Amino acid sequence: MADKIAKLRIDDSEYDLPVMSPTQGPDVLDIRKLYAQADVFTFDPGFTSTASCESKITYIDGDKGELWYRGYPIEQLAAKSHYLEVCYLLLYGELPTQQQMEDFETRVTRHTMVHEQMHNFFRGFRRDAHPMATLVGVIGAMSAFYHDSTDVNDPWQREVAAIRLIAKVPTIAAMAYKYSIGQPFVYPRNDLDYASNFLHMCFSVPAEKYEVDPALARAMDRIFTLHADHEQNASTSTVRLAGSSGANPFACIAAGIACLWGPAHGGANQACLEMLREIGTVDRIPEYIARAKDKSDPFKLMGFGHRVYKNFDPRAKVMKESADEVLDLLGIKDNPTLQVAKELEKIALEDPYFIEKKLYPNVDFYSGIILEAMGFPTSMFTPIFALSRTVGWVAQWKEMIGDPQNKIGRPRQLYVGNVKRDYKDVADR
Ligand code: CMC
Repeated sequence: MADKIAKLRIDDSEYDLPVMSPTQGPDVLDIRKLYAQADVFTFDPGFTSTASCESKITYIDGDKGELWYRGYPIEQLAAKSHYLEVCYLLLYGELPTQQQMEDFETRVTRHTMVHEQMHNFFRGFRRDAHPMATLVGVIGAMSAFYHDSTDVNDPWQREVAAIRLIAKVPTIAAMAYKYSIGQPFVYPRNDLDYASNFLHMCFSVPAEKYEVDPALARAMDRIFTLHADHEQNASTSTVRLAGSSGANPFACIAAGIACLWGPAHGGANQACLEMLREIGTVDRIPEYIARAKDKSDPFKLMGFGHRVYKNFDPRAKVMKESADEVLDLLGIKDNPTLQVAKELEKIALEDPYFIEKKLYPNVDFYSGIILEAMGFPTSMFTPIFALSRTVGWVAQWKEMIGDPQNKIGRPRQLYVGNVKRDYKDVADR
């Protein structure tokens, strides 16, 4: 029973809308019965005022610039935790005990290899395919390789699918990279931690010994942690919508990856670095700032702005510190891309247009700088985001499937097309 009731008046009729109270954040009007009672829909393209589900996983306060996973602030998790612990937290709701952590790590590491037949599947792709294109295809194809974890009504199969996805996505992302540069696939090493293993699969070659730099592995792990979940964003909502029809988990995560690829979402990290390179030198920044403000120019400053954060992106703050550490570690000082990035950040933060519209650098602005310094090509930036976000998608999907109230997602529309008319024979048109 709702504590508060909102009243909606349409002509002479009045309707009661129960007001639902979250544990944190703004109240939510329950409009589930509105169409049945009042014969009206609500209109909210882009879902700027719509809560699409109940969730206990992630909370964002866009005005305060806060992000919590299961109640824990992202800054604390980035400083004190590590990615696999964060995965456990997102999936099961609580931080693990020592024993639970060890069991979880064992389960994930035992699933890092992919079906050997998948190597042949990879070879069907063109060498120059974008790794995101390969990732969408191969993750979707996991449903063809792992039939025994596709029954969404079986909690055990859901659990196995979750572990398989978290364990295998790094292997598949690294394979997509190796394939694109013509190098042999590198098998996972289960004696390495999650982030080190990913770096090993991306950067080692059979001909040479490769030692993972622990400081770079820590930076990689932090990138994974900062991207692990982000409430009901476009790709997560895509996963939930796909899953609401009962589609198998691999198909749902492939749908999320496809959505993430867009430059307004996860594709922004690649687009941002490409933009910085295109700007090239500090003296050209004003030209690009002017283009970003020009309404008739579709250009936007990539890596700036966010639908929810209107103060700052807390992930960007941590990522910026991490970027400074990594560049320091690698002795990178006079990189021209970095100079452009630093100057662009400064100019945009002082510019009234960006201040008034509350446009701040987001997580993608700094992550590209770190990833480039680590040696990743820009085409791998979004696959790394997808890898990190897989746990968030899986946790949200599991939460939805386990919810007895779950029903197929089916939005309605404001129809503005033709009214009914009769077909004309071609001679009469
Ligand atoms: N450069 C210039 N102007 C901008 C930018 C930008 N990056 N972002 C927003 N604006 C303007 C926009 O033109 C609009 O102006 P007006 O009010 O005059 O029409 C105003 O700011 C509000 O923007 P909006 O497009 O209505 O905001 P939105 O919530 O629909 O879009 C966004 C959010 C992230 C898609 C958008 O800011 C954007 O395209 N940014 C660049 C791409 C990017 O960095 N995306 C990564 C987001 S963070 C990681 C993730 O979640 O994947």
